[in-house]
Amino acid sequence: MSAPVSALTAGPDLRLSAADYGAVADHLYTLAGITLREGKEALVISRLGKRVRATGAKSLGEYIHAVIDGGMPAERTHFIDVLTTNKTGFFREPAHFDFLVDELFPAWTERRGEVRIWSAASSSGEEPYTVAMLVREHLASEIQQRTRILATDISTRILDAARQGRYTSAQTAGIPPELLRSYFDREATADGWVARRTLKDLVRYARLNLMEEWPMKGPFDLILCRNVMIYFDRETQERLVNRFAGLLAPGGVLMVGHAESLSGIQHPLEQLQPAVFRKRGAL
Ligand SMILES: C[S@@+](CC[C@H](N)C(=O)[O-])C[C@H]1O[C@@H](n2cnc3c(N)ncnc32)[C@H](O)[C@@H]1O
Repeated sequence: MSAPVSALTAGPDLRLSAADYGAVADHLYTLAGITLREGKEALVISRLGKRVRATGAKSLGEYIHAVIDGGMPAERTHFIDVLTTNKTGFFREPAHFDFLVDELFPAWTERRGEVRIWSAASSSGEEPYTVAMLVREHLASEIQQRTRILATDISTRILDAARQGRYTSAQTAGIPPELLRSYFDREATADGWVARRTLKDLVRYARLNLMEEWPMKGPFDLILCRNVMIYFDRETQERLVNRFAGLLAPGGVLMVGHAESLSGIQHPLEQLQPAVFRKRGAL
């Protein structure tokens, strides 16, 4: 790797050596399974630089080594938070939601017992709230009462935002106007919207690192794990998809991001359409 990249700001020394960049990449992989590609030095400096200032560390190097050596245990969460990408959106990759309404909902109407959905990298809530809107719109109220949506993410900061359910007008632009009016209230003080109770009541948020033990037993009828596996290496992806398969009910469905091909990965699921996989057996 080339010479240290420096940020030309006053205050703490934000130079990032190649060795420290490697140490950040290794630590992020260990903590979250995320592969930090080459050439992201500027991003690391800008994101961790904020934490250097917030913690009062004298330099980026000092901060990085304190986090890695465990000298700042509380900082581990912030380290993960600032280095993860949370890009998301309501009705993102709409083919998944068409499939949900056209194929899964009709199958679920035959079901007894709970319908269980897991949004496994939920970011700021747009994905689980999209599912919640469709549940409220399309499923009979008797089935709605038995429907549970679990939404998890590694980032506590983003989960706090999801629980609040506050979105700017730009963020809600992907929601059809009639659904926006039905499921969100106008913010009194800001140019935005806040999710109503009827959505929030369907979704339970919890912090979960996909690389660690999972406390829940399943089985799930639908798992969405979209646009996070792209940051994991093949081996990690394969392990993860097989763990998801183990938690799916027979006939249950896994949705991955459309940019996340599972080709070359050994798993027991059958592909139904791009980015939609099903566990064999009847629901
Ligand atoms: C790009 S967002 C995708 C959000 C949503 N699923 C979508 O497709 O719009 C990726 C999310 O994965 C989360 N994430 C990254 N590594 C994770 C891990 N090891 N365990 C759980 N969540 C993780 C990030 O915090 C981020 O919110």
